[in-house]
Amino acid sequence: MKVLFVCLGNICRSPAAEGIFQKMITHHRLQHQIQCDSAGTAGYHEGEGAYPKMIQVAARRGYRLDSISRKVRPASDFVAFDLIVAMDDQNVKDLRRIAPSEELKAKICKMTDFSAKFHYDHIPDPYYGDTKDYELVIDLLEDACEGLLQSLMDELKPSN
Ligand code: 4NP
Repeated sequence: MKVLFVCLGNICRSPAAEGIFQKMITHHRLQHQIQCDSAGTAGYHEGEGAYPKMIQVAARRGYRLDSISRKVRPASDFVAFDLIVAMDDQNVKDLRRIAPSEELKAKICKMTDFSAKFHYDHIPDPYYGDTKDYELVIDLLEDACEGLLQSLMDELKPSN
């Protein structure tokens, strides 16, 4: 099972989702069954690490963000990944536009579809925000990543 987290720049929200989800995967010893990566719909920050403010806030919460920004590669990503998890509606729109086929659009979903505690319909872009906006991103992602992991674990059960 392979999951690709996608935001605009791949330096704030999706690298944080990847770091949080990776920690959960490792904690549950599921690294052989579930893999994840992240990418951006835009290539402005290609080759850069996560944004320093995002790294700092995530580190305080126990997450190491070590991914390097890259743009979504439609031809390979839509085939290689089982689930493409967007952070907001614009990401969904952009992903639908670049999807190689109608059928592959079915792999696109939104991070907040998996939320349990919070009732946000997207993960707000923190790029021009302050510390509390970055903290909110972590709160929302922790909640949604737990829901996502639960849904994948249900799918991985042998009875299915
Ligand atoms: P992200 O945040 O999509 O969560 O990585 C952003 C990062 C960079 C920009 C916008 C959003 N930017 O305009 O450069």
